[in-house]
Amino acid sequence: MVDFKYYTPTEVVFGKDSEAQLPGLVRKWGGTKVLIHYGGGSVVRSGLLAQVKKQLDEAGIAWVELGGVVPNPRLSLVYEGIELCRREGVDFLLAVGGGSVIDSAKVIAYGLQYDGDVWDIYDGKHTPVASTPLGVVLTIPASGSEMSDSAVITKDEGLVKRGCNSDLCRPRFAIMNPERTYTLPPYQTAAGVTDIMMHTMERYFSHDDDMLLTDAMAEALMRTVKECGEKVLADPQNYQLRAQIMWAGSLAHNNLTGCGTTSDFATHRIEHELSSTFDATHGAGLAAIWPHWAEYVLAENPTRFAQFAVNVVGVPNDFKSPERTARAGIAAMVDFYHRIGMPANLPELIGRPATEEEIAEMAFKATRGRTVLLGNLKKLGYDDVVAIYRMANKA
Ligand code: NZQ
Ligand code: ZN
Repeated sequence: MVDFKYYTPTEVVFGKDSEAQLPGLVRKWGGTKVLIHYGGGSVVRSGLLAQVKKQLDEAGIAWVELGGVVPNPRLSLVYEGIELCRREGVDFLLAVGGGSVIDSAKVIAYGLQYDGDVWDIYDGKHTPVASTPLGVVLTIPASGSEMSDSAVITKDEGLVKRGCNSDLCRPRFAIMNPERTYTLPPYQTAAGVTDIMMHTMERYFSHDDDMLLTDAMAEALMRTVKECGEKVLADPQNYQLRAQIMWAGSLAHNNLTGCGTTSDFATHRIEHELSSTFDATHGAGLAAIWPHWAEYVLAENPTRFAQFAVNVVGVPNDFKSPERTARAGIAAMVDFYHRIGMPANLPELIGRPATEEEIAEMAFKATRGRTVLLGNLKKLGYDDVVAIYRMANKA
């Protein structure tokens, strides 16, 4: 078990009436003028945006709004947000939406506390030292951004998608009402389920082998999300199922399931090039890559993959061969992805194979121009990443 720090300062308010606590939470965390940040319209259609505005009005809390965050959020809107907040004297950011909205708000929050170009943080030229406080009203369980230390943004020119990790950006509070997720399209529900599982899988597949408690929690979380994910697609308004998935989404990425393990996150880094290049949904991109990453790195720790196969995916243990058990587990995950409507390779994700040029470019960007290695279970350089994209490219 490796040493760890566990820091989750986000105040979670979970349940059917959780939104009612919004004005009190904004006040508690010092908000006097709020930017309400949201996406492409789901919160308008659902009435949530109108409800949030009404609540703030009734509490006498001033606000301005900025909608239009797209999935795989863009830096250009962040710049707009920074300008708007400075002009209006905003001192609190409220993200009403999913990972894209939350991340966009997090980057605005960094930008408000920095005189230079906020992209400097993503270019390695500046380390953030402060961030304007932000809160979340979550509408899609997936990214875990409502409790995570991560903010992922895409620079419009060159479609460069990068993440930054710092405790500074962890939301002050997260309001989570599972009923708000009833309207999610099946594809987004399934992509969310995939992403949630993957955040724990990225922490689970390591060389460390003596973190029994973390393993037990991680396996329970992955099993729960897998089972409830499949069921909720047939029963989208089932509160119990939606609630399990929503809570798991936060726990999967607030590092609870990473205590004592060395995280990998190569699948994420490889996927981010798919969502920036093809504007793919992040969770779907993960499903298209993971089985191939798993095949590629399996030999590094076959018993770990076998444990996952038995304890999470429920395949019988072939005691004579951990490799065979492991491969059966990967095949079962491919079946699972297909059952929930997710792709399990690149042609299924983007409707055609990627070209060799696209693969080379994505591998180049993922490894920051061949200067960094991805992952930990097996450290992957440019050639490894190309090999994984090629494996994923076969239908
Ligand atoms: O834009 P609107 O109209 O709101 O529609 C959204 C969007 O099209 C829709 N949606 C959200 N809630 C809904 C709803 N539709 C109907 N009913 C609802 N209740 O769903 C679509 C996807 O939303 P998005 O916010 O993009 O999804 P997600 O939460 O999966 O976020 C994805 C982004 O998060 C990043 C990803 O890379 C991607 O950019 N990630 C952020 C992480 C973090 N900060 O910790 C970690 C993750 O690994 C991930 O990289
Ligand atoms: Zn993710």
